[in-house]
This record gives sequence, C-alpha cells and structure tokens, in this order.
Amino acid sequence: MSRTVYVNGEYLPEERATISIFDRGFLFADGVYEVTSVLDGKLIDFAGHAKRLERSLGELEISAPCSVDDLLEIHRRLVAENDITDGLVYLQITRGAADRDFAYPTDATPTLVLFTQSKPGLADSPAARTGIKVISIEDQRWGRRDIKTVQLLYPSMGKMMAKAAGADDAWMVEDGAVTEGTSNNAYIVKGNTIVTRQLGTEILHGITRAAVLRFAREAQMRVEERPFTIDEAKAADEAFITSASSFVMPVVEMDGAPIGTGKPGAVATRLREIYLEESRKAAV
Ligand code: PDD
Repeated sequence: MSRTVYVNGEYLPEERATISIFDRGFLFADGVYEVTSVLDGKLIDFAGHAKRLERSLGELEISAPCSVDDLLEIHRRLVAENDITDGLVYLQITRGAADRDFAYPTDATPTLVLFTQSKPGLADSPAARTGIKVISIEDQRWGRRDIKTVQLLYPSMGKMMAKAAGADDAWMVEDGAVTEGTSNNAYIVKGNTIVTRQLGTEILHGITRAAVLRFAREAQMRVEERPFTIDEAKAADEAFITSASSFVMPVVEMDGAPIGTGKPGAVATRLREIYLEESRKAAV
C-alpha cells in the first residue's frame, strides 16, 4: 500500500513525491537527517531529535525550513495517516536545489522530506533476545561525525562487510579505539562499569545514548566515557549498542569470538527494559 509522505509543504502519495535533480542533498550529500522511533503510535524523544537537528543545521549554516512545532505536527500527521503503531519517522533537510557549485548557494530554499516506515513489534525484536554479532573495521568516514549528515556510504559499506563476514554490524576503529557502530553508539561492560566513547567530533551524539546513560546513572551503574579498544571489547563481560531504531541491543560476538558468555548480558537487558519503559512513558 502506498504511504503518504511529506515534501516541502505537501502530503502526497509516495509515487507522486519528487525533488529536483539539482538538489544538493543528491549532488553533494549536503543535508542532514533524523530518525525518530514510534511506539504505540507515539514519538520517542522527539525533543531530543529536534534539538540535534537544530544543531546539525547550524553547523552547516542551513536555515530551518519550519519551526519545531511544525515538525512535530508533520510527524504526528504522518504517523496517523499511515496508521503507524510501531515504526520510524525519517526526516531529511537539504540545502535545497541550486546550480552545481561547491560554494553554498545564497538563494536556495531548503528541502524538507519526511516519510514513515512501519515496523510492527519494533520493541520486541528477536535480535534483542539473542544479541547481535559485530566485526571490527577501520573507521574511514569524514571527521565531523557529530553532524548527522546523509553521507552514509561508508557506514553502508561497513554493513555489507559485516554481512559478508556473517555478522550483523560493524564497529569502527580509529587510532586503535572504537568510535561507534555503523548506525549506532557502542558500549562495553566490565564488572559493574559501562564504558562508551566520550562525545566529540568522532561520533554522533546519540539521542538514545544520552537517555540510556542518564538511566544507567540513575540506577547507580558506573559509567566511564572514554575510548576503548577491540581487545577490551573481546575481554568484556558484555557489550551493546544503542540507537533510535534498535533501542538497547546486546552484542554477543566480536570478530567471531564470543563476548562474555556469548549471550545477552544482565546490564544490557536491564537497560533495554528501563529505556523502553521510561521512553514509552515520556513519548509524545
Ligand atoms: N542512526 N551513531 C551513528 C553513526 C548513527 O547513525 C546513529 C543513528 C547513532 C545513534 O543515534 P540515535 O540514538 O540518536 O539514533 C549513532 C539512525 C538510527 C539511522 O541512521 O538510521
């Protein structure tokens, strides 16, 4: 069945939604995006995603095409019109269409596109019960990973490298330390300490990460924000990832070797429960 999508002020059937071939998102990956999850028809941490979007736009000097209230209204209408119980809302803003030139155009109007993806049972995925397998790969992305841009080719290649190796995802490594997963933040657990890389330009500042670390601290878990190595990950008791689409997902294998018992650990399992419970309560 055809979805209703949003393009520059209009709600349209997906077949009729078009943007210009001169759009800088297409020509230069000159655009940013957000993915917000939907549980029980409500948006999870919309405010967090809206805030990061504002920051990404600011870093690239792209003007916001509308207010945060307007964005919330568009998200809600798409969720309702497409009858989404569990799923995702994808939002993309590009600098807009302009004659091809490396310099930013001064007269382009930003392009705003949103669409939904229905994912029944998103919070009850079988992978959360078994855990996922990851491989390590070199991080060959650009240096401003704190901006959520649509330049996703290397992460996409990383996902294919993982698939070719019989794994589910890849953790990227730079100067000997893990940065993050292809589309998620990465964590290990040793004893009662959760370790994850500190914020900086090397990783995306995950909205799920912020919430999960807050809940972990509230639950008296110890959190260390610092770089860690693949050897540390292999010797860890547990590992997990976080993102808007996977919430908290246990990682049970690294480069073919089991992590801890090779089964989802107690910390990841508990954090997933807390995250889902608290996020559902605060959903809008
Ligand atoms: N990805 N790191 C990277 C590189 C990401 O692409 C993502 C999100 C995250 C987690 O951020 P958040 O918790 O705000 O979702 C970390 C989204 C889900 C995607 O590209 O589909």
